[in-house]
Amino acid sequence: MLDRIYHLGYAVYDIEAAARFYEENFGARLSEPEVVEDQGIVATMFGVGESRIELVQPTRPDSPVGKFLARRGEGFHHVAFEVDDLEEALAGLKAKGVELIDESPRIGAGGTRMAFVHPKGAFGVLTELVELPPTPG
Ligand code: CO
Repeated sequence: MLDRIYHLGYAVYDIEAAARFYEENFGARLSEPEVVEDQGIVATMFGVGESRIELVQPTRPDSPVGKFLARRGEGFHHVAFEVDDLEEALAGLKAKGVELIDESPRIGAGGTRMAFVHPKGAFGVLTELVELPPTPG
């Protein structure tokens, strides 16, 4: 079911400062920041080999990432696993009694289909499942 780590999400107060830090010090190439309104975030990513780092800044303090920052401060926020079939993965987890935040797929940054597994049932790690659109050709 798990194909690879698609990205690691870092919660930051200032996405521009964080992006600049990775550009200037690590030579990272950041994607255009994108607002995902239903999650209350603005996000940008850079590639690390086959995987990515996602920088996430809240657009409002009462969004889940806003509350996370208030409670825990900046730092590691979530891991995203790429899966082939998101519906199947969610149905399988639900059948096994795993607590989900999203019982059906949402559209995340970059137009990918994604869903969150609750950190309570995943040993404190917020876990995102991502199904990428089929690559053309
Ligand atoms: Co993510």
